[in-house]
Amino acid sequence: MQLSRVIPSEPSRRGSAPAGLVFWALGLLVFAGPFACKGESDQPQWDAADATRKTEFVDDEDLVRDLPFAKDLASLAAFAAEEEWDLEGNLVDLVTGESEARYGWESRALLDSDSFVGWRLESGRRTYERECAGCHARNGDGGGPAAQYLFPRPRNFRKREFKFQSAPVGGRPRREDLMRTVTKGLVGSAMPAFRLLPEEKRHDVVEYVRYLSIRGEFEQTLLEWTDLDGEFADPEEVQELVEDRWKRSNNPVTVPLIAETDFDQDSIERGRLLFTNAAACNGCHGDTGLGDGPTADSFRDAWGYPIRPRDLTTGQFRAGIDPSDIYRVIANGIGGTPMPGALGNNTPEEIWDLVHFVQHLTGKEVSR
Ligand code: HEC
Ligand code: HEC
Repeated sequence: MQLSRVIPSEPSRRGSAPAGLVFWALGLLVFAGPFACKGESDQPQWDAADATRKTEFVDDEDLVRDLPFAKDLASLAAFAAEEEWDLEGNLVDLVTGESEARYGWESRALLDSDSFVGWRLESGRRTYERECAGCHARNGDGGGPAAQYLFPRPRNFRKREFKFQSAPVGGRPRREDLMRTVTKGLVGSAMPAFRLLPEEKRHDVVEYVRYLSIRGEFEQTLLEWTDLDGEFADPEEVQELVEDRWKRSNNPVTVPLIAETDFDQDSIERGRLLFTNAAACNGCHGDTGLGDGPTADSFRDAWGYPIRPRDLTTGQFRAGIDPSDIYRVIANGIGGTPMPGALGNNTPEEIWDLVHFVQHLTGKEVSR
């Protein structure tokens, strides 16, 4: 039996927040006795908020996903023990050890890795822990102390799923996608724009977000591939697979595929027709784009929270308001949400028509 079938949610928190040897030594103690180490470590204060999380496991997939935050390896270990799973060795120790060997802060492997720009990581970590961890949590699982007050929740970087990227949904974000998010923020959510952070520092923190994401994906995939009947997944294979996905995302792509077509009444009307017929955007967004289509109330996102189609008349677009930003979001869809990519079923010209109709919904006029 595959572990992923039993626990479809994210099973890993510990073992991902690198803060030097001391932290890791203490971390080991925590695995030995999940409650042994509260309050006596150098963990920053937001870890206190972690303790308030609901972390019990339930068998039903929906219930697991409904829990407010990701679960940690320690509670997974407790669950495994309770269920008397017959695992080779301690699963938590195994995953932590494999992860530490590859992604540990002091490990050479990290510096030598061609998956990261190694020299950016330390500076990125400092910026991250100062500017981002309050929301995204130190280990990147999206459960910082502020998270419980925010909707949508801060992104959990360890879940593989990102919303705004140049690749079609299912790929991984490119460095420039993350850079755009960090620089412009995500309008209409709590994610701030970090324009005032020097550009180099933004590159550094982007690299660190990639690090947290890749490490999280490695740990999670390792757990998912582990067979409860005793076979531990091959960590080499998992590492290669995960890092390869992230590397491939940085292959050059061009979005939009063609230069913008004319913004004129004809294009808007073609867009309207697509929106309400062939492309069926209206099922979710409604005929007039108010976000009130017949299915609008029926969705959850990949992180388990209810999500509604956007009211397109407000002009607030998280991915940005440049025509090419709107193009990208319509062409590729929004990862982790029901918003599908239109590229498969529509030509690039048709996608520009949709962009123009959406812009028209926000009040943009054809100039005469
Ligand atoms: C005040 C809280 C807050 C802070 C501080 C914050 N974020 Fe976010 N961040 C969010 C929220 C909320 C979202 C999710 C928005 C959504 O789902 O539409 C998010 C999403 C993201 C995403 C995901 C974009 C995607 O395509 O899915 C990235 C990357 C990100 N933040 C990076 C950062 C970095 C780097 C920092 C620090 C420099 C930072 N954030 C600071 C709240 C915050
Ligand atoms: C199955 C439901 C569904 C369909 C069909 C759908 N959308 Fe969406 N759309 C959503 C949801 C949900 C969101 C909000 C995602 C979020 O909050 O992160 C969204 C958001 C958007 C946004 C805002 C992007 C941003 O940057 O904030 C645009 C623009 C958009 N949709 C356009 C379209 C167009 C054009 C089509 C048809 C080609 C379409 N949608 C089809 C569900 C849908």
